[in-house]
Amino acid sequence: MDKLVAYFSATGTTECAAKQLAQALSADLYEIEPVEKYTSADLNWMDKKSRSSLEMKDPKSRPAIVKKALDLDRYDTIYIGFPIWWYVAPRIIETFLESYDFANKKIVLFATSGGSHFGKAADVLRKCVPSSTPIIEGHLLNDIYTKEQLKSLFD
Ligand SMILES: Cc1cc2nc3c(=O)[nH]c(=O)nc-3n(C[C@H](O)[C@H](O)[C@H](O)COP(=O)(O)O)c2cc1C
Repeated sequence: MDKLVAYFSATGTTECAAKQLAQALSADLYEIEPVEKYTSADLNWMDKKSRSSLEMKDPKSRPAIVKKALDLDRYDTIYIGFPIWWYVAPRIIETFLESYDFANKKIVLFATSGGSHFGKAADVLRKCVPSSTPIIEGHLLNDIYTKEQLKSLFD
């Protein structure tokens, strides 16, 4: 079975990590794309009314994703990457998990952040997939790793 690295990135940091991980694992790469891209005003966490603040305050928020052909049958392990927002995953990751069937898959998380760890990210995301689907907290990719290091961290 093939591996898939799926990621959301608002400002490019997670995208860079995702590309390196996909290369190290010889995995396919898939971008989780918001229908409405995030502007820098949207990402202002100091503004309580910014789009990201409002989404993260609302557990039911599910920002729309661009619907692209994605044949999950080909994959047994899906690596999902995102920037940490307010100590969890951006809501768009919940949209992604609820948009496809993750039964009988293994999900491994990776993230980039300003320094925080996964927090409650995995716990929140587990509510979006069947209870038999494991969601494993992988690694933060804030540092630069070689291909070999990435392979041994995630393989
Ligand atoms: C709305 C928002 C909330 C954030 N919350 C956190 C946080 O709780 N902890 C942290 O360490 N970094 C936080 N960050 C920083 C991002 O996680 C970090 O810059 C990340 O690498 C950005 O990835 P990207 O370029 O792929 O979007 C936040 C950034 C934004 C825009």
